[in-house]
Amino acid sequence: MVKHLTSISDLTKNELLEIITLAEDLKDERRRGIFRDYLKNKTLAMIFELPSTRTRVSFEVAMTDMGGHAIYLNWNDLQLGRGETIADTARVLSRYVSGIMARVRDHGTITELARFSDVPVINGLSNLEHPCQIVADLQTIREKKGSFDIKLAWVGDGNNVCNSMILASALLGFEMRIATPEGYEPDERILSRAEKTGAEIELTDKPEEAVRSADVIYTDVWTSMGQEKEKDERNRIFQPYQVNKRLLSFAHKDVIVMHCLPAHRGEEITDDVIDGPHSVVFDQAENRLHAQKAILLRLLEG
Ligand code: CP
Ligand code: NVA
Repeated sequence: MVKHLTSISDLTKNELLEIITLAEDLKDERRRGIFRDYLKNKTLAMIFELPSTRTRVSFEVAMTDMGGHAIYLNWNDLQLGRGETIADTARVLSRYVSGIMARVRDHGTITELARFSDVPVINGLSNLEHPCQIVADLQTIREKKGSFDIKLAWVGDGNNVCNSMILASALLGFEMRIATPEGYEPDERILSRAEKTGAEIELTDKPEEAVRSADVIYTDVWTSMGQEKEKDERNRIFQPYQVNKRLLSFAHKDVIVMHCLPAHRGEEITDDVIDGPHSVVFDQAENRLHAQKAILLRLLEG
């Protein structure tokens, strides 16, 4: 059976840990200037329905580093933009390439691609999940904290990145406290999937409570791609959830602050925090490259 990464739940705990360890090894190799053609003659199709800096560049560099090739495909430049079906697109691309990575508005597009593709499909962000981001974040957490024996506080919108983190916390067994305004909690199906495994997830509307004794504080934009019309209302509602110096004063002294980027500085996070000593956001961004390589190796090479 073809192995896809549409959701963090597509991985077992062991598979996830293996990928993170592989990402660490690949990071070390790259630092030492070692490049091996692990994916020689392999091509990755990268479909983008939404903009991207990190996902696009890190996947493309990952393929180049490993001796393969990546093709950037803007949704509207494909026949998809003129109504060719997702199923037919998946069937056709499967005849050419070794893997498909897609960033889409609707998560259903990812599952439809996976359903009709004969090659692995990787979710490069949907409205429901962002699994590749979380693999890089877990690599970063282990790098900075030494293990997954941590408490993670999510502050802000219970969005796609938060959903994938919840599923990771269920797999790896770390505690998660999530502070969101009422009505902006994470997806209910994701929460119930996680809770069935006995995951320790606590929901609150008080950011100070969430960050108390946290080892990791994670925030993301208040308005995700596709929600632009709600921006003004969201900016007003989310104001008390800003990650700033005051909020950090409630956390451990050695807390790390994470953000998947792009950040809206002065909204969900202040300049002094994102540029300050607790921030690991650029290590996260770098680890996207190493994590993506590990994902590609695991899925395209088995
Ligand atoms: N974090 C992330 O996925 O960034 P891009 O939107 O730039 O790909
Ligand atoms: N939650 C954000 C993540 C961007 C990488 C969004 O969906 O726009």
